[in-house]
Amino acid sequence: MIALSTGIEIGYEDMGTGIPVCFLHGFPHNRSLWTPQLHGLLDRARCLAPDLRGFGETTAAGPFSMDQYADDVASLLDLVRIERAVIVGLSMGGYVAFSFWRRHRDRVRALVLADTRAGADTEEARTRRNEMIALAREKGSAAVADAMIVGMVGRGTRERSPHVVDEVHRLLASAPVEGVIGALEALRERADSHSTLATIDVPTLVVVGEEDVITPVSEARVLHSAVRGSSLEVLSGAGHVSNVERPAAFNHVLSEFLAKLTLE
Ligand code: MLT
Repeated sequence: MIALSTGIEIGYEDMGTGIPVCFLHGFPHNRSLWTPQLHGLLDRARCLAPDLRGFGETTAAGPFSMDQYADDVASLLDLVRIERAVIVGLSMGGYVAFSFWRRHRDRVRALVLADTRAGADTEEARTRRNEMIALAREKGSAAVADAMIVGMVGRGTRERSPHVVDEVHRLLASAPVEGVIGALEALRERADSHSTLATIDVPTLVVVGEEDVITPVSEARVLHSAVRGSSLEVLSGAGHVSNVERPAAFNHVLSEFLAKLTLE
């Protein structure tokens, strides 16, 4: 844990050697989401994985917004002396990556946008965020985990690998309730990032689980067609947390992407 210039203490992993890669988790996860990537890539990348504000070991104090999460990450990069990193964001981590790109683009070596979307919340989605906030206040994070788990993990994983579903449920249920509420407000208020996509001029990989129902393949195709020169990988047999559901396949496409960067 170290104190950031943005006023919080942050928990993070910093392991491995090679090209710096910063992994941003989704909602309501924490850095342990990335365990399969940290262990799979540490011989070729310096893997940095923070707990975003309000999750894991990081202080649960506002303000909560995608911009604030992005500024926390920039402050962490300063402290660990990484000038530029490949930013890998899954779902909410992808929304943070868009803010990070808008605010700190000189720190971005390349982008990996996993199971995410460019759009802001619709009115219906905002209503659902408010219902989820009420649920979190009344019944806590375990109730939020119960409500989210079916969408979070793909159909194939639910049928074939119930232990993965249990692990992901445990991860969601362990989230501090202040962090969950803060993140839901931040998700509800986040900016639309469609106009950002055309400004991205670093190598970009878009990854999505074929069975993702939260940010489906159609959303990944929007990202792929709007980000010049990007590549798209659709992982069969995976849902929204594709990096956990198909860790070897996810690590393979990420490793290939990193290998090309190191040749440039
Ligand atoms: C996530 O996985 O980060 C969330 O499901 C994203 C969202 O709800 O928009």
